[in-house]
Amino acid sequence: MNRPAWLRDAVFYEIYPSSFYDSNADGIGDINGIRQKLSYVKDLGCNALWLNPCFDSPFKDGGYDVRDYKLVAPRYGTNEDLYALFREAHELGIRVLLDLVPGHTSEEHPWFLESGKAELNEYSDRYVWTDFWIKGTPGHPYIGGETPRNGTYMLNFFKCQPALNYGWAKVTEPWQTPMDAPAARATRDAMADVMRFWLTKGCDGFRVDMANSLIKGDDDEKSRTCALWKGLLGEMRREFPEAAFVAEWGWPRQALCLADFDMDFYLDHWGNGYNKLVRSADAYLKGNDPLAFVTDYADLYEASREYGYMSFITGNHDTPRISHYMTPEQLKVGMALLFTLPGVPFLYYGDEIGMRYLEYLPTKEGGYTRTGSRTPMQWSEGKNLGFSDGEAASLYLPVDPAKDAPTVSGQQKDPDSLLNTLKALLRLRHGTPDLRSDGSFTVLYAQKDDPLLVYRRGGLTLAANPSNKPVNTGLSGRAVFQIGAFEQGVLGPCSFVILEARA
Ligand code: GLC
Ligand code: CA
Repeated sequence: MNRPAWLRDAVFYEIYPSSFYDSNADGIGDINGIRQKLSYVKDLGCNALWLNPCFDSPFKDGGYDVRDYKLVAPRYGTNEDLYALFREAHELGIRVLLDLVPGHTSEEHPWFLESGKAELNEYSDRYVWTDFWIKGTPGHPYIGGETPRNGTYMLNFFKCQPALNYGWAKVTEPWQTPMDAPAARATRDAMADVMRFWLTKGCDGFRVDMANSLIKGDDDEKSRTCALWKGLLGEMRREFPEAAFVAEWGWPRQALCLADFDMDFYLDHWGNGYNKLVRSADAYLKGNDPLAFVTDYADLYEASREYGYMSFITGNHDTPRISHYMTPEQLKVGMALLFTLPGVPFLYYGDEIGMRYLEYLPTKEGGYTRTGSRTPMQWSEGKNLGFSDGEAASLYLPVDPAKDAPTVSGQQKDPDSLLNTLKALLRLRHGTPDLRSDGSFTVLYAQKDDPLLVYRRGGLTLAANPSNKPVNTGLSGRAVFQIGAFEQGVLGPCSFVILEARA
């Protein structure tokens, strides 16, 4: 597979900057806070970061409404702080991906302010506009009445996020831009310029937001959008061969095979394999059989494994936290699976201690039901659970008020904690080539109405049982890692084992 070699051993840690660590007591996490916690990330066993957008923004969608792609949001610090983060991370062997939002900007972006003017200018076609104030973009949400320009503009997501114009697959209206028109090309080049800017400063690549949304009116295969990415990523790789790109796409047949991303998230889509593994009512990790997960996953894996990596996620800033769906015992088994299946895994900050989803919180910065997964990291007992020295009322979001809220320092002391279990597992992963992203994978056992899942990675046999009953595996061999009980071939309730295959 022709992907950056470092991805073979990469384990990512996703950080929501507002909520990780506040270094200056203003209640909001910041870049210097992340710098102070790099050794924690390293010690945990993660060697790569993905930072959610940390750019200047009105924060109507948690920073996914970018006002200046090349400026760190003042509340997070300065560009120099971020450059220092790159340097210090690299000294520890940690790579850093930033979040690229190519499909839309904030409605406050200077490009958009220019684009909305009545007079033609360089940015008139940077966004998708119709040619009459009351004519909308059919099949897409749009806004009228806000600008001097005689037209309406298409939205990509919230009202504050006008869609950038990469052109239309098929032009059927006079106001639509062909894909090869100079204006569409200019948008693409502007995004290449943003990527080049950060890559030159030391960032190691990008997580790409809504990567499949660029060309409007694309076919079901997204063939035009895929071709655009293939070209753009190729251009970046010629200059930055070590850079890595992960798509928010959720369909590796397109993202990896056609669009040429290195990684694609296995996202939580209704009824897909990830949903059936972690989140559906009949999810495998709740103790059901693994068939629905295995069937979907094995198929996608086979189709895409020559091209790139599928990325399992513990969760992300858009999903309820994984701890919401299962018992703490099942969560350990879940982590064991997510970090021993093929591909490049992503851990959402706080999931390593089983932080809770605080579903009752009022919405913050466009978070809505996502807000409860964005609360401050819980470092220690005491003031603000170690997140900030500021006043509790000033915090970005309140910390988990539960008496038994898990913390890093609490779990560090407990050899059996989720944190220490995960650390041991990641240590093993890094020391075992068979467990790396590109190590081979075969399902050995997955049957209807049976919670036992057995799979092989190279010379290792792995078995999981997230149910509350013991199962007979018929397996033997030396256990190199174990959660729960494994004796004489019987895997206890909520247990997991990695065995060296017999010679
Ligand atoms: C992606 C992000 C999400 C954001 C949306 C619009 O799905 O993960 O947080 O709201 O795109 O940019
Ligand atoms: Ca701060």
